[in-house]
Parts: sequence; C-alpha cells; structure tokens
Amino acid sequence: MQELEALRSQAEKELAAAKTIEATEAWYRDYLGRNGVVTNFLRGLGGLPREERPAAGRAGNEVKNLLEAALHTRQEAIRQREMEQALAAEGVDVTLPGRKQNLGRIHPSNQTLREISQIFGQMGFQVYDAPEVETDENNFGLLNIPEGHPARDMWDTFYTTTPGVILRTHTSPGQIHAMRAYCPEPIRVILPGKCYRHEDVSARYDMMFHQVEGLVVGHNVTFSDLKGTLVNFANQMFGEGRRLRFRKSYFPFTEPSVEVDAGCVLCGGEGCRVCKRTGWLEILGAGMVHPIVLQNGGYDPSVFSGFAFGMGPERIAMLKYGIDDIRYFFTNDIRFLERVG
Ligand code: DAH
Repeated sequence: MQELEALRSQAEKELAAAKTIEATEAWYRDYLGRNGVVTNFLRGLGGLPREERPAAGRAGNEVKNLLEAALHTRQEAIRQREMEQALAAEGVDVTLPGRKQNLGRIHPSNQTLREISQIFGQMGFQVYDAPEVETDENNFGLLNIPEGHPARDMWDTFYTTTPGVILRTHTSPGQIHAMRAYCPEPIRVILPGKCYRHEDVSARYDMMFHQVEGLVVGHNVTFSDLKGTLVNFANQMFGEGRRLRFRKSYFPFTEPSVEVDAGCVLCGGEGCRVCKRTGWLEILGAGMVHPIVLQNGGYDPSVFSGFAFGMGPERIAMLKYGIDDIRYFFTNDIRFLERVG
C-alpha cells in the first residue's frame, strides 16, 4: 500500500511538471499505458495472497482512476494555456494605425485631356464625341483627301477586314460629324479621343495616342481668331510666356495651314532627342477650314468660314512635365503613372 502511495505522489509530481501535450502522452505511457507502472501493478495482483487481493485491487484501481482524471485536467490546462498564448501572439491590436489604401489616380493622358477641355470650355467650346472606328470617306475623302491623293501617305492607316472601314488616324473626321450635326448653326467644339496609326514606334510616336480636334465655324471667322485662340490656350496650359512658333504647312483640309511648335522644355531650346535637336516641339496642326470641307459638312463657304486644329495631348503632357518618351503613357508602369501630372 505504501508503495502505491509513493507511486501516486511520484506520478502526480511528474504530471505537474509536464508542460506540453506530448509530455503528458509520454507520462501516460510510463504510468497507465500497456506497460505502465500502474498497469503492471494491477497485473501483478494475481501474485498476492488471496485475502490481500480485493483491498489491493480496489486501491490500485482508485489510483488508476485518480491519475486518469489528473491527466485529463492537466491536458485541459495545457490546451487552455496554449490557446491563450496563440491568441496573445496573433491578436489584433486595435491601436495600430490602419493600412494605407493605394488610391488610384487619373491617367496622365486623361488628366491632360481634362485640362485641355477646361481651357477650351472657358472659351465657349463644347465637347463633341465622334467614333474611333471610321469610314475611309470621313477620315479621308470628305476631308479633301481623295483616294490616291499623295497626302494619304501622311497617315499610315489600320484597315479593317470590312472594306471602307478603318481606325481613325486622326480626330479630323469628327469635323464632318459635328458639321453635319450642327449645320446651319455656328460651331465651337473640341473633339477629344483616341487615334491609331501604323507607326514605327519610337520616343515620339506610338500606335495609339490621343488627339483633341478643335473646330469653329461661323460668320467672319478669321486666321487671327485661330491665332488668338491658340496663344490663349498655350498661355493657360504652359504658363504665360511660353514661346509658340507658327510654321506654314500643308493639310488637305485647311487652307492656309500651319503647324504650331512650342519651345522644348526638356532641353530649354538647346536641342535634344525628343525635339529632334531643334529646340521646338510640334504640338498641333491647324488652319482655316478648306471650302470643300465646309461644303461637305453642309455649309456654304461663301457665307461661312472656320478654323480647325488638331493637337496631341501626350505631346503636350511631355512638354509640360518634361517626359522624354511617349511610350511611357501606355506601358502601365506604375512609377510613371503615379508621378506625372
Ligand atoms: N489631323 C491632322 C493630323 O493628325 C492634324 C490637324 C491639322 C488637324 C490641321 C486639324 C488641322 O484640324 O486643321 O496630322
């Protein structure tokens, strides 16, 4: 009996020292398992004198039950402590500052389009939406560029499998849509949107880019109106005093025609890769609407006159923000998109 008592207190001491479930399982093997000390004690009862067996058996079973209950309690306590520790380790600290959300922003091209629209909006221009998929006739024919005209070489065109249907190479066909929609009322619109050209992609040209077309048709609209409008635009877009240069040029849909350059901000006029070492960056083409185009839009050229222009917002953004390659706009590099504008 004393032996049993000693066994029990030894077992209890060891169980109290077990810190993990694995340790309690080893303890179980030592005492209560198939070859455990307590099991062996009960198995050895057969060797006792007959009269001692019932009392020894009762005492042995009592110890076995006690130890089993103690094991259960100990394991519960260990599990409880492990859970508390895990909760403390993984717990949410509500006092931590929140995670910063990565907010999107307006794409530099759209940002520039908005600025352009706003400036022309102040001058009374409305925005007119015209299609990107166009007919050959609107993109060329009605703009005084008949089939076979050498000026078609100015625009390397994406043709579709449907004859006569192309991706517009410029926003100028929108002039035809606007004139036919407004005629015989006067017009003051800008037509922003995407254009497509089969270009050799380079720092200056991409296959897809934006343009903003402008069109004014009315009575006594003159070249000075065109010049005043564009100078006012440049002053607002780039800040007062940016140099503008009007060069005589040729477009089939305007007569006379000009190209307008702004002083290159990248090199300060000294000449660089982007301005082709000229110190100037072309920002738009413009001119007085050709009488044939006015006629194609439904206007009588002896009564109405007009001016038009077409500018590239990516070019303008490059100039304004000192970007040296147009391809950055559409390669989705987040470092560029976050920084410009
Ligand atoms: N559409 C011409 C281009 O893409 C640009 C242009 C020139 C537009 C003269 C005009 C204009 O409206 O009058 O090259």
